[in-house]
Amino acid sequence: FAGAPCVKERTFIAVKPDGVQRRLVGQIIHRFERRGFKLIGLKLLQVSKDLLSEHYCQLTKKPFYPDLVNYMTSGPVVAMVWEGPDIVKTSRMMVGHTNPAEAHAGTIRADFSFHVSRNVVHASDSTEGAQREIQLWFDGQDLLNWDCIDQSVTS
Ligand code: PPS
Repeated sequence: FAGAPCVKERTFIAVKPDGVQRRLVGQIIHRFERRGFKLIGLKLLQVSKDLLSEHYCQLTKKPFYPDLVNYMTSGPVVAMVWEGPDIVKTSRMMVGHTNPAEAHAGTIRADFSFHVSRNVVHASDSTEGAQREIQLWFDGQDLLNWDCIDQSVTS
């Protein structure tokens, strides 16, 4: 719409296995659509340990890493790329604190979870991180750069 910032920032969002198993995918997608963000990539996949070790490359020495791998490979994950102005910062706000016990009411983690080891969703923490994660999880050809025909909706 007129006056809206035209910055096409992208971020990587994943619904983790607990979110998929609890049938929360639709509700999570709804929050991003409701905010006005644009979905440009989406897939359901069983994640490999290799992909996880790249995705969480800074965490492989953490004591919780084996549990994190077990959790993230316990079922399919929904991987998504979303686009919109300031989306990295805004999506982190929408997702809420890593530890759901500290997340504000109204955020995804506060509304749907209570423990850090089952926190339902992942969101990139920086624009550089988002770029790295998008490249890791998606082939460029699987991201669609579509436009709105309905001009009343932000493209
Ligand atoms: S740290 O230690 O500060 O670097 O970790 P943090 O930034 O808080 O979290 C990084 C990711 O690790 C996940 N995490 C955990 N998973 C399982 N069990 C435990 N105890 C645990 N603690 C942290 C956390 O959800 C982050 O994953 P993402 O996918 O980025 O949300």
